[in-house]
Amino acid sequence: MPAKTFYIETFGCQMNAHDSEKVIGTLLAEGYQQVETPEAAHLVLYNTCSIRDKAEQKVFSRLQQFKRDAGKGKLFGVLGCVAQQEGEKIFDRAPHVSLVAGSASYTRLPELLVQLETGHRRVTGLSLDTDETFDTPFTRRDNPYRAYLTIIEGCDKSCAYCVVPFTRGPERSRTSESVMAEARRLADQGYTEIQLLGQNVNSYRDPSPAGWDFAALLGRIAEIPGLRRVRYTTSHPRDFVKAIVDAMDASPVLCDHVHLPVQSGSDRTLAAMDRLYTRAQYLERIEWLKNARRRYSITSDIIVGFPGETEDDFEQTLDLLDTVQYDSLFSFKYSPRPNTAALALPNRVTEDEQQRRLAILQEKQRAIQIRLNAAMVGNIEEVMVEGRNHATAQWIGRTSSNRTLNFSDPRTEGLNGQYVQVRVTRSGPNSLVGESVTVV
Ligand code: 5AD
Ligand code: SF4
Repeated sequence: MPAKTFYIETFGCQMNAHDSEKVIGTLLAEGYQQVETPEAAHLVLYNTCSIRDKAEQKVFSRLQQFKRDAGKGKLFGVLGCVAQQEGEKIFDRAPHVSLVAGSASYTRLPELLVQLETGHRRVTGLSLDTDETFDTPFTRRDNPYRAYLTIIEGCDKSCAYCVVPFTRGPERSRTSESVMAEARRLADQGYTEIQLLGQNVNSYRDPSPAGWDFAALLGRIAEIPGLRRVRYTTSHPRDFVKAIVDAMDASPVLCDHVHLPVQSGSDRTLAAMDRLYTRAQYLERIEWLKNARRRYSITSDIIVGFPGETEDDFEQTLDLLDTVQYDSLFSFKYSPRPNTAALALPNRVTEDEQQRRLAILQEKQRAIQIRLNAAMVGNIEEVMVEGRNHATAQWIGRTSSNRTLNFSDPRTEGLNGQYVQVRVTRSGPNSLVGESVTVV
């Protein structure tokens, strides 16, 4: 266990995955070396998620495993959303932890590391009072073809169920100049796909005098030579304006996919959740997408069993699925989170009932996906190749609409990161199968 070695495990969303890429880069720049197992590391870091209780419990079970290593020269750090949410309480629950830092403090990491290495045993970075974003030239990107790029951090909404405003702090946008410079640098390095990240990318607002909004930023990034695909996540329906659809229509580089989390199809539940839009307003945005120049994949997140959700509210969510015909859906049982407004709401839905609703919702969505994917059989789709499944001897590709398309091709190597035209020959609920075609 040589000094200055570290191991990091990441939980949660793409923002967290990208934060870890920045944290790793920062540690390497500080002279640390990354190792593959916690056993081999001097410093063990967990970058944590607290969106639902289950996610939060994971880090504590990990920490439990290593309790006995405390005091043997091994250091433990908790980063990310659980760190921010639980703060110094983590030291009580897991006394072998000596670093607790939320994402709003990562700019201070080098300084926190020095404190750790000089023997401080309770080092914290927990202030949310910041107008900075965590930008670093040292980011160690995991994927050589597709790069994450943060444009906005934090969240100013206050959805009644959500911890994010408490764990990631207030909204702060990067300057358009710094976003554009990073995007150009990525294109120069050979990345062809960029995924713009933020808790709410739609409320991006350039803090510099240029003053670009999100639609303007999208349009400009799409013009950068070398970039073939630009995606973004995640969108809040309230801030999803028509100009975004117009920008997407204007450039095929902007991928055929919008993730627009609705959470519920019932106005009553949406109001209780404090989502700031009605079902009708949400459907208006869906109409913009359905009437657009190309076909966009639309995906969403739904929470079932929010406090007070009646059978009728739930039926309205099911009805929304029929209306929208989502290409894919993430669905969750409501999980009570610390500090959130929904904790005070009456009429909790029982676990059994939540489970029943989730199963019905997922079954309905599965039928929709089977139908939508089947309609793609015979199409020729461009995929970016992400890897090879040696067991099936197929390449794994992703369409612009964000579908997995596994395909056969005579070549057995050298396709990763390439763009290939593929004819879809079969479909399932979650993916497509095809064979590459030579386009003349
Ligand atoms: N319980 C269940 N699901 C939640 N989500 C956010 N907070 C909660 C919670 N307390 C879901 C939302 C969000 C997605 C990232 O996670 O659907 O869009
Ligand atoms: Fe989890 Fe939300 Fe934090 Fe992402 S922002 S890691 S989803 S709690």
